[in-house]
Amino acid sequence: MKKRVAVVTGGIGGLGTEICKQLAKAGNKVIATDLAARAERVDAFIKDVDGLDIHFEPGDVGDFDACAKLVKKVEDEHGSIDILVNAAGITRDCTLRKMERTQWTDVMHINLDGVFNMCRNAVDGMLARGYGRIINISSVNGQTGQFGQTNYSAAKAGMHGFTMAMAREVARKGVTVNSISPGYCETALVMAVPEDVRNKIIDSVPVGRLGKPTEIARTVGFLAAEDAGFITGANIPVNGGLFMSS
Ligand code: CAA
Repeated sequence: MKKRVAVVTGGIGGLGTEICKQLAKAGNKVIATDLAARAERVDAFIKDVDGLDIHFEPGDVGDFDACAKLVKKVEDEHGSIDILVNAAGITRDCTLRKMERTQWTDVMHINLDGVFNMCRNAVDGMLARGYGRIINISSVNGQTGQFGQTNYSAAKAGMHGFTMAMAREVARKGVTVNSISPGYCETALVMAVPEDVRNKIIDSVPVGRLGKPTEIARTVGFLAAEDAGFITGANIPVNGGLFMSS
């Protein structure tokens, strides 16, 4: 059987790296894309994923035309994009009353516009081929809101609406669109939260610890699988019990 081709944005980041590894170990060819400006991390990434069918392609999810070029390049060189994982994300934490306009627009631009930019460019090929798995990495904070994150919570909640709407539009064509809402995990993003604040958050997690990037990657692998075709428009929380809803 032909290998499926996966593109992972934020691919060399904390969650992204483990997502790439999980997808490659499941037998997919993986293209990790991330900012060229993060190039200093690429060598470590390549070493980390040594032996797996994972390739790095620089790209900026905030730039619509760059996303179009990236999608075309991957399709030309590898034949298709079958799996798209939107894992690129940033934080600019700050209470609303102190928030600069750029702290709002930067977060919306990367976290939400970035999902549009990639999906809009990848969707035609998926529909034409009658197969696709799109997985958007949202956040528990898009479900609950978080102090100091009006920008991030809004963008992550927006991803849920986007996911459900797109899922409806492509459901009859073999393309599924789902989101995952990670809780607090062992990533640089979470380690940037002041230690006292972070410790209080960890205390409030029923499982009593931060999540591991591999635990998020496992869920991506589940949704990206060939036989996950009846799961669409869903959001899977992976948060150690931090937020429970029926
Ligand atoms: N709930 C209610 N009140 C709170 C609070 C909370 N969670 N946290 C702080 N406060 C209160 C303080 O006690 C203080 O009160 P007083 O003014 O009465 O003393 C006041 O709010 C502080 O307000 P400031 O605007 O001065 O806030 P600050 O500058 O000290 O810090 C912050 C604000 C930078 C947002 C800081 O609270 C913070 O870093 N919070 C963590 C945000 C967070 O969880 N980010 C997640 C990043 S990881 C991620 O996003 C990944 C993912 O998907 C899970």
